[in-house]
Amino acid sequence: MKPSKALSGRIILPGDKSISHRAVMAGSLAKGITTVRGILDCDDCNYTIQAFKAMGVRIAKEGDSTTIEGNGLRSLSAPDKDIGLGSSGTSMRLLAGILAGQDFKATLTADKYLSVRPMKRVIEPLSMMGVDIKGAAGGYPPLRIKGGSVKPIHYKMPISSAQVKSAILFAGLYADGITMVEEASKTRDHTERMLKYFGARIDVDGTKISLKGNTELSARSFEIPGDISSASFFMAGAILLKGSKIRIEKVGVNPTRAGILDILARMGARVKVANKSDLFEPVGDIEVESGGILRGVSIDEDMVPAVIDELPILFVLASLAKGRTVIKGAGELKVKETDRIKSMVGNLSLMGAAIREEKDVIVIDGVDVLKGSGSLKSYGDHRTCMAMAIAALTAEGESRIDDIECVSKSFPGFFAVLEGLK
Ligand code: S3P
Repeated sequence: MKPSKALSGRIILPGDKSISHRAVMAGSLAKGITTVRGILDCDDCNYTIQAFKAMGVRIAKEGDSTTIEGNGLRSLSAPDKDIGLGSSGTSMRLLAGILAGQDFKATLTADKYLSVRPMKRVIEPLSMMGVDIKGAAGGYPPLRIKGGSVKPIHYKMPISSAQVKSAILFAGLYADGITMVEEASKTRDHTERMLKYFGARIDVDGTKISLKGNTELSARSFEIPGDISSASFFMAGAILLKGSKIRIEKVGVNPTRAGILDILARMGARVKVANKSDLFEPVGDIEVESGGILRGVSIDEDMVPAVIDELPILFVLASLAKGRTVIKGAGELKVKETDRIKSMVGNLSLMGAAIREEKDVIVIDGVDVLKGSGSLKSYGDHRTCMAMAIAALTAEGESRIDDIECVSKSFPGFFAVLEGLK
């Protein structure tokens, strides 16, 4: 990659990955025909679609529109073979919750990236709910689940994870009584919003979520907002490349997810959200321009969940900000598609950044300029790859990143959209 001049233009990005997964899941469990526009066409979401097809749900795609013929909470049928989920952690953890309520045996398998990611975090609460669920030694994929009867629990989350919370809530749909989840810090609430929209009896009181089981869901039709995690890479590019001005339309700006907007404002970046609307997920147009002085910030542990997937690109921004950025409680980054602390510290150090980690605290001292490097690596991780691509555009000299195909996990068109903005 060569250094780039300003970015400019208006774009609409593909649908939000988290919301797309949940739309397929809720539509498959609801009664009636759900029509969704803008389901993200990426590896991860396609694994979720394939999984429901393998369990008898009719899902058809025509252009931008996906039709899901749901037949109710307990209508799935036993798959005739193991369900492969590639590297999609969201598919595996949320499906575990859904399979808890199905009266058949199923096995969820993983590729080499997902096989080393922790599943004990869902095995434990689902076992407490009476589900027969087993992982490989140590609590890793594959997961073998025999569902059918689910007990409600009150579960205090030991970690902040929207995937774990969602697995318990999906399982709670099948429990006789009220399932309650209490979060350590509030994580993305896409599952709560989606289930409520589909008619589930769900109440949220601060960090406590209660769901009354055994209520059928009803089909709905809606459009998925653009993915703010994908947007954040272009936002960073526009902030860092002088003379840039871009507008990203119809992006999901759910506050439990859009922490990047608050952090960028605190850093002094020129970012605005216009044309806000809200069906069951807030949506807006994000306008970003370069200029002003970018300053380092401090980010506390309770703010991390709202920015968890944007931390790699935030490391790039902080590397080029004035002063020090300190991010506390970033340990969950070590169990993403790769250890994102290691991948980002390694790559950015090669470019001359001053970034280090000590006991889950990241400390970044801004430098004036990053230097191009011929040895950057994606580590098979889409977000490391896209963050480093943006870093490379801002650098002095050329860079090379290996193994860039991994962007198809969440954003197959990333490099094409980036070219279009140059
Ligand atoms: C996700 C939750 C987060 C996030 C992931 C998607 C979701 O994971 O990192 O990309 O859709 O619920 P954790 O729940 O493991 O933090």
